[in-house]
Amino acid sequence: MIKVGFIGAGDIAYLHGEGVNSSAGAELTGIWNRTRSKAEEKAKLFGTKVFDSVEELIVAVDVVYVLTNMETHHSYSMQAIEAGKHVLVEKPTAVTIAQIEEIKEAAERKGVQVAPVHNYIYEPSVMRAKDMIESGKLGEIVSLYVLYNIHHPEEVAGRYPGVIRQILTHHAYCTLYLSGAPKMASCMKATINDGSVPQENLAMVTLQMQNNSLSHLCASFASDDHAGDPWTFMIKVIGTKGATRYSYRDWVENTPAVVHSQTYSAYPYTIRSMGKHFLDEVIGKGKKPLSTLDDAITCMKIIEACEQSVEEQRHVSV
Ligand SMILES: NC(=O)c1ccc[n+]([C@@H]2O[C@H](COP(=O)([O-])OP(=O)(O)OC[C@H]3O[C@@H](n4cnc5c(N)ncnc54)[C@H](O)[C@@H]3O)[C@@H](O)[C@H]2O)c1
Repeated sequence: MIKVGFIGAGDIAYLHGEGVNSSAGAELTGIWNRTRSKAEEKAKLFGTKVFDSVEELIVAVDVVYVLTNMETHHSYSMQAIEAGKHVLVEKPTAVTIAQIEEIKEAAERKGVQVAPVHNYIYEPSVMRAKDMIESGKLGEIVSLYVLYNIHHPEEVAGRYPGVIRQILTHHAYCTLYLSGAPKMASCMKATINDGSVPQENLAMVTLQMQNNSLSHLCASFASDDHAGDPWTFMIKVIGTKGATRYSYRDWVENTPAVVHSQTYSAYPYTIRSMGKHFLDEVIGKGKKPLSTLDDAITCMKIIEACEQSVEEQRHVSV
């Protein structure tokens, strides 16, 4: 059995616990969290133990999941890699490109697998969209839309960076997976809330792609979209010979989720599928993740271009 340990026991740990349980070849050996009560709550739920320190956890497992806030991803990942452990690290992989490059270099040097949690692409219909694009069935890609409108209350948004890093990271790896890297970015951001959280909760980006097609990315914590055919989370690809889409709204449960006002069932499936692929295929069989640390570096270049575009009010080369 592959032994897995979680550093961090916040909201996302619920879904990663289900992910580990869905792999027949892995077990959740234990959890560490800065605030012990959170680790105890998740450990009880998943029938596992609480570790007293990060060091004890790392020694006891084969694979470390880094599920803390973005600012600590780099240091915990490096600690685990230097101890010779495989790592699954939540997005954004780190704060800077240099930190991700350091993680990549250390992983290669120590011969361990490190993958970013780029979960939205671990969906059969997103993989089919990629296949249709790559096999030419959709013709030349003209436009790609990645749209996200899910309300996050101030007390949740306040724990995260703004939506450029928190949500456009998802959009960046989805774009990369389906349409390749962009060459130019133009971004605007806004904050529309009760005034208690300064970071942006709305951002929109236009990307010019290598083939001159355009992509539009939208990320909003400011409101839900509950109108007809909602843009809760949607990917739309339009090509010269065809089009396709993926929507969270194809699977909805009428109960609130941890943060979301309804349960968008696709979302937990993406985390489970990503975790299962990492444990069974990447660790178990040495395959590559669908999105790699190199992709995480390109994502960060897109994010930094967006931030620079906002700051300087101009289009920025990626
Ligand atoms: N892949 C996805 O779809 C997805 C969705 C939500 C969150 N996330 C990512 O997962 C990570 C955690 O998010 P969350 O929703 O669980 O947040 P959360 O606020 O619920 O939990 C964060 C955890 O990090 C710990 N933490 C915070 N600062 C720390 C520090 N300085 N040192 C050690 N521990 C610290 C907290 O104790 C808490 O348990 C973030 O990187 C976030 O971007 C990913």
